[in-house]
Amino acid sequence: MKFKIRLATLGDIEKIVKIYSEWGKFKGILPDCLTIGDSYDDLIKFFDGTNDSRRYLLAENESNEAIGVCYIDLIFLGYNNIRLGDMMVKEKYRKMGVGGALVDKVIDYAKENNVNKIWLWTQEELKDAIRLYEKKEFVFEGRQKNQFCNKDTLLYGLVAES
Ligand SMILES: CC(C)(COP(=O)(O)OP(=O)(O)OC[C@H]1O[C@@H](n2cnc3c(N)ncnc32)[C@H](O)[C@@H]1OP(=O)(O)O)[C@@H](O)C(=O)NCCC(=O)NCCS
Repeated sequence: MKFKIRLATLGDIEKIVKIYSEWGKFKGILPDCLTIGDSYDDLIKFFDGTNDSRRYLLAENESNEAIGVCYIDLIFLGYNNIRLGDMMVKEKYRKMGVGGALVDKVIDYAKENNVNKIWLWTQEELKDAIRLYEKKEFVFEGRQKNQFCNKDTLLYGLVAES
C-alpha cells in the first residue's frame, strides 16, 4: 500500500478524531479513561495558535483517507528532547509499515532539529506498539507507578548517537 505522511493542519482535525476513536476498541483491555480518543475540542488548541507545543503527523493513503496519526510534543525542545505521543494506525491498515514510517518521521524531526532524545509513554498491554518501538531501538527506561488512570505506564527512550 502506498501512503504519505505530512504535517496535519486545522482542516485535518476531524480526520484525526476519527482515527483516535479507535481507542474505543481497547475497552476492557485498558482502563476506560485511556480508551477515550481526543475530541475536536481537545485538539483545536494545537492547530489554531492557542497552544504551539504539538506537531501532528498524518498518514494518508492514495485515496487521501487518513490512516494513521501521532504527534511530536515540543514542550521540552529547549532541553533537547521531544516526546512521541498518541500514535494510532487504523486497524484495517496495520502491519503495512505506517506506524514504522510515523516513528521514522519523528526520528527525522529529531535529527533535523538537533534533538538527541526522543521519549514516549506506552502501556504493557500495547504489545504491537512495544515491538515496534523496540525494533526502532527505543529502550525501556522504567515503569512509572500509577502514572495515568491509576495504572502503571512504561517509559521508552531513544538517544541519538553522538
Ligand atoms: C502500534 C501501531 C501504531 C503500529 O502500527 P503499524 O502500522 O501496524 O506498524 P508497522 O506496520 O510499521 O509495524 C507493525 C508490524 O508490521 C510489520 N510490517 C510492516 N510492513 C509490513 C508489510 N508490508 N507486510 C507485512 N508486515 C509488515 C512490521 O514488521 C511489524 O511486525 P511485527 O509486529 O511482527 O514486529 C498499531 O498497531 C496501532 O495503532 N496500535 C493501537 C494503538 C497503539 O498501541 N498505539 C501506541 C500508543 S503508545
